[in-house]
Amino acid sequence: MTEYTVEFVGTGETITCSDKQTILSRCLEEGIAQEYSCRVGMCLACSAEIVDGEVEQQVAAARGLTEEEAETYALTCMARPASDLKLDRGKYPPSIENDTEEPAAADD
Ligand code: FES
Repeated sequence: MTEYTVEFVGTGETITCSDKQTILSRCLEEGIAQEYSCRVGMCLACSAEIVDGEVEQQVAAARGLTEEEAETYALTCMARPASDLKLDRGKYPPSIENDTEEPAAADD
Protein backbone atom coordinates (compact mmCIF):
# COMPACT_ATOMS: atom_id res chain seq x y z
CA MET A 1 0.00 0.00 0.00
CA THR A 2 1.32 3.43 -0.93
CA GLU A 3 0.17 6.72 0.57
CA TYR A 4 -0.15 9.76 -1.66
CA THR A 5 -0.90 13.41 -1.05
CA VAL A 6 -4.01 14.87 -2.65
CA GLU A 7 -4.19 18.66 -2.78
CA PHE A 8 -7.39 20.46 -3.76
CA VAL A 9 -6.38 23.58 -5.63
CA GLY A 10 -7.86 26.85 -4.52
CA THR A 11 -9.16 25.46 -1.22
CA GLY A 12 -6.03 25.02 0.89
CA GLU A 13 -7.18 21.45 1.62
CA THR A 14 -4.74 18.56 1.46
CA ILE A 15 -5.33 14.96 2.45
CA THR A 16 -3.37 11.74 2.30
CA CYS A 17 -4.95 8.83 0.48
CA SER A 18 -3.64 5.33 -0.11
CA ASP A 19 -3.77 3.59 -3.45
CA LYS A 20 -6.34 1.23 -1.87
CA GLN A 21 -8.92 3.93 -1.03
CA THR A 22 -11.09 6.09 -3.21
CA ILE A 23 -10.47 9.81 -3.01
CA LEU A 24 -14.13 10.39 -2.13
CA SER A 25 -14.01 8.02 0.84
CA ARG A 26 -10.98 9.85 2.22
CA CYS A 27 -12.68 13.22 1.67
CA LEU A 28 -15.68 12.03 3.66
CA GLU A 29 -13.43 10.73 6.45
CA GLU A 30 -11.65 14.09 6.59
CA GLY A 31 -14.84 16.18 6.48
CA ILE A 32 -14.05 17.69 3.08
CA ALA A 33 -17.14 18.88 1.23
CA GLN A 34 -16.64 16.86 -1.94
CA GLU A 35 -19.97 16.60 -3.76
CA TYR A 36 -21.28 13.13 -4.58
CA SER A 37 -24.49 11.26 -5.20
CA CYS A 38 -24.47 7.77 -6.75
CA ARG A 39 -21.00 6.62 -5.58
CA VAL A 40 -20.88 4.14 -8.49
CA GLY A 41 -19.40 6.26 -11.27
CA MET A 42 -22.65 7.17 -13.03
CA CYS A 43 -23.82 10.65 -12.04
CA LEU A 44 -20.54 12.66 -12.36
CA ALA A 45 -21.44 14.71 -9.26
CA CYS A 46 -18.07 13.86 -7.70
CA SER A 47 -16.00 14.91 -10.72
CA ALA A 48 -12.74 16.81 -10.33
CA GLU A 49 -10.26 17.98 -12.93
CA ILE A 50 -6.82 16.35 -12.67
CA VAL A 51 -4.48 19.35 -12.56
CA ASP A 52 -1.39 17.30 -11.80
CA GLY A 53 -0.70 13.62 -11.19
CA GLU A 54 -2.37 10.37 -12.09
CA VAL A 55 -5.30 8.34 -10.82
CA GLU A 56 -6.30 4.73 -11.22
CA GLN A 57 -9.92 4.56 -12.30
CA GLN A 58 -11.25 1.71 -14.32
CA VAL A 59 -12.91 3.31 -17.33
CA ALA A 60 -15.41 0.49 -17.41
CA ALA A 61 -16.23 1.15 -13.78
CA ALA A 62 -16.18 4.92 -14.18
CA ARG A 63 -19.00 4.57 -16.67
CA GLY A 64 -19.93 8.23 -16.68
CA LEU A 65 -16.74 9.27 -18.49
CA THR A 66 -15.45 8.69 -22.00
CA GLU A 67 -11.91 7.27 -22.23
CA GLU A 68 -10.56 10.72 -23.20
CA GLU A 69 -12.34 12.41 -20.31
CA ALA A 70 -10.98 9.83 -17.87
CA GLU A 71 -7.47 11.12 -18.63
CA THR A 72 -8.43 14.65 -17.52
CA TYR A 73 -11.19 14.14 -14.96
CA ALA A 74 -11.36 11.94 -11.90
CA LEU A 75 -14.60 10.52 -10.61
CA THR A 76 -13.54 10.67 -7.01
CA CYS A 77 -15.99 7.94 -5.98
CA MET A 78 -14.08 5.52 -8.23
CA ALA A 79 -10.59 7.01 -8.49
CA ARG A 80 -7.62 5.99 -6.38
CA PRO A 81 -4.39 7.98 -6.48
CA ALA A 82 -1.50 6.58 -8.52
CA SER A 83 0.79 9.51 -7.64
CA ASP A 84 0.64 12.67 -5.59
CA LEU A 85 -2.26 14.68 -7.00
CA LYS A 86 -3.61 18.14 -7.49
CA LEU A 87 -7.36 18.13 -8.15
CA ASP A 88 -9.78 20.94 -8.93
CA ARG A 89 -13.10 19.96 -7.37
CA GLY A 90 -16.37 20.84 -9.03
CA LYS A 91 -15.01 20.69 -12.60
CA TYR A 92 -17.16 18.57 -14.89
CA PRO A 93 -16.37 16.82 -18.19
CA PRO A 94 -18.04 17.96 -21.43
CA SER A 95 -20.20 14.81 -21.59
CA ILE A 96 -22.21 16.05 -18.62
CA GLU A 97 -23.73 18.54 -21.05
CA ASN A 98 -25.38 15.63 -22.87
CA ASP A 99 -27.53 15.01 -19.82
CA THR A 100 -29.08 18.47 -20.02
CA GLU A 101 -30.22 18.35 -23.65
CA GLU A 102 -33.92 18.67 -24.33
CA PRO A 103 -35.52 15.34 -25.20
CA ALA A 104 -36.24 14.85 -28.90
CA ALA A 105 -39.78 15.70 -29.94
CA ALA A 106 -41.99 12.68 -30.38
CA ASP A 107 -43.09 11.82 -33.89
CA ASP A 108 -46.78 12.40 -34.58
S1 FES B 1 -20.87 10.07 -7.00
FE1 FES B 1 -21.80 9.68 -8.90
S2 FES B 1 -20.13 9.48 -10.26
FE2 FES B 1 -19.20 9.67 -8.33
